Amino acid sequence: MCGIVGAVAERNVVEILLEGLKRLEYRGYDSAGVALLSADGTINRVRRTGKVQALVDALSQQDALGSTGIAHTRWATHGGVTEANAHPHYSSDRIAVVHNGIIENYQSLRENLVKQGYTFTSDTDTETIAHTVNEALKNADSLLAAVQASVKQFHGAYGTVIMDRTDPAKLVVARSGSPLVIGLGLGENFIASDQMALLPVTRRFIFLEEGDVAEITRRSVSIFDKDGNAVERDIIESSVEHDAGDKAGYRHYMLKEIHEQPVVVRNTLQHRIDDTGLLPDIFGNGADEIFAKVKHVQIVACGTSYHAGMTARYWLEQYANISCNIEIASEFRYRKSVVHPDSLLVTISQSGETADTLAALRLAKELGYMASLTICNVPGSSLVRESDMAFMTRAGAEIGVASTKAFTTQLTAFLMLTLALGKHNGIASNDQKTIIQALLNLPAKLEETLAITQGIEDLAEEFADKNHSLFLGRGDQYPIAMEGALKLKEISYIHAEAYASGELKHGPLALIDEEMPVIVVAPNNELLEKLKSNVEEVRARGGIMYVFADKDAAFASDDTMRVINVPHCDGPIAPIIYTLPLQLLSYYVALIKGTDVDQPRNLAKSVTVE
Ligand code: F6R
Repeated sequence: MCGIVGAVAERNVVEILLEGLKRLEYRGYDSAGVALLSADGTINRVRRTGKVQALVDALSQQDALGSTGIAHTRWATHGGVTEANAHPHYSSDRIAVVHNGIIENYQSLRENLVKQGYTFTSDTDTETIAHTVNEALKNADSLLAAVQASVKQFHGAYGTVIMDRTDPAKLVVARSGSPLVIGLGLGENFIASDQMALLPVTRRFIFLEEGDVAEITRRSVSIFDKDGNAVERDIIESSVEHDAGDKAGYRHYMLKEIHEQPVVVRNTLQHRIDDTGLLPDIFGNGADEIFAKVKHVQIVACGTSYHAGMTARYWLEQYANISCNIEIASEFRYRKSVVHPDSLLVTISQSGETADTLAALRLAKELGYMASLTICNVPGSSLVRESDMAFMTRAGAEIGVASTKAFTTQLTAFLMLTLALGKHNGIASNDQKTIIQALLNLPAKLEETLAITQGIEDLAEEFADKNHSLFLGRGDQYPIAMEGALKLKEISYIHAEAYASGELKHGPLALIDEEMPVIVVAPNNELLEKLKSNVEEVRARGGIMYVFADKDAAFASDDTMRVINVPHCDGPIAPIIYTLPLQLLSYYVALIKGTDVDQPRNLAKSVTVE
């Protein structure tokens, strides 16, 4: 959440900062700002509410110059969306600060700083960083020393970049809980909250570790750990595509990412499976020995990733014969739970930086889980670095705030995990063969499914004036109904609830009338007859239904029911296939409603605060 970019160079850095902000805008888009420092110590700050474009327009009206600079795009936590609350924040026109995260003890810090004579001009927690560093400079011989002294006072999460007007050509940065990555250039260096921001200028990165403080100049990078010891961190050559941020001709990133699913699922499978089964070591060296001992799986995740985990529980218990629990990370981390013997902790995350999921992993280590595995999309992210094993989903950069391709690649990864764990727990050979074949056919099936777009566009027309909706599914399609409801809520702002359809008569049936569309996910599986009974219960109460069904499931459209045929597919991959029409439905409804599909209100990608 929020995006940070900084640069120290000989040239004017304004374009580098603005391009970086545009590439990070999906992380927060309430306001944006930049502070530029010239070699002679002149500092120029420009901030605007709204999208980065408002800042770009403002800067185009003036000769913005600076060879050192910091910039920020904000997702508001403390303080409303106003220019005064936009970053960078100043202390006495000397110190400028940008910050991601939350300084939890900001109120007590603020009270002390006010007593010391500092005047606050914003409602943010970030401004306390600027004044604390300014105060610390009174007893420190460098900005670095002042920042090292200051961070000892901060509780909470921060990725922060600090600039001192009296010491140009230098940035000091600190990381605790919010990621920061240093980009290395030739005679110029950079800092950002995400490597995406810096791909136009470098591919060489240093990912800072928890507690690190670093001093960055044009020609040097000095890093100190939380105890103040000088440390070396690895330089990583990034393999992320530079143009991953382009829309490739699509109207929205979300639509592009929906259509990328056959390709990214194929990438996720490539060199990991063939028609004889999984290839060796795909979960990392030594993973198979660990999997042989696993007696229980605990999955922890948030949002869409949580829905992937919910689906996985059906698969792990049904096919791999292994017991599995799944919990939302923000609950798991704050309750006492029983650790089953020989438990594997599995975290799932697109970003690898979700604060609650990361905290859950750290807690699990203390609780004595046998090992941890993360299923993650971002190489080098905190979850990848801190887990014992990592399985990368290869979805590529996901820019649309509503997660699509990350979800289907996570499900693909879980089917492979089902095979890997099933091998040690007596997976039935016909199940094994079916899953392998279904996975090999999956990219082609996804292509075929995307071809049904037209029917869904028409359906969205009928849907867009509704205020509420109900999604129904059974078995491993229940989490898919939940994911469909989440997508609709997020981007069209239509209230959507999901129920396991067997629960209908235990309450939600009371809601049914012609103003409450009911979306049913109905593959041709062993629960189909039960689901049909649930459909009749809705029909008998005057509900209008939209049924996504296998053509062999024998549903027919009539006055109360619109049927959208989904290609026939093997049981294990049905949840992945049925996800696509639900994503498209949300997309087209949002399009008709005219909402901001890629950057829905109040949300941001990658939730690095609790
Ligand atoms: C929904 C969505 C969120 C994320 C959630 C977890 O479309 O994107 O619900 O799934 O914030 O994020 P990750 O997967 O990055 O941990």
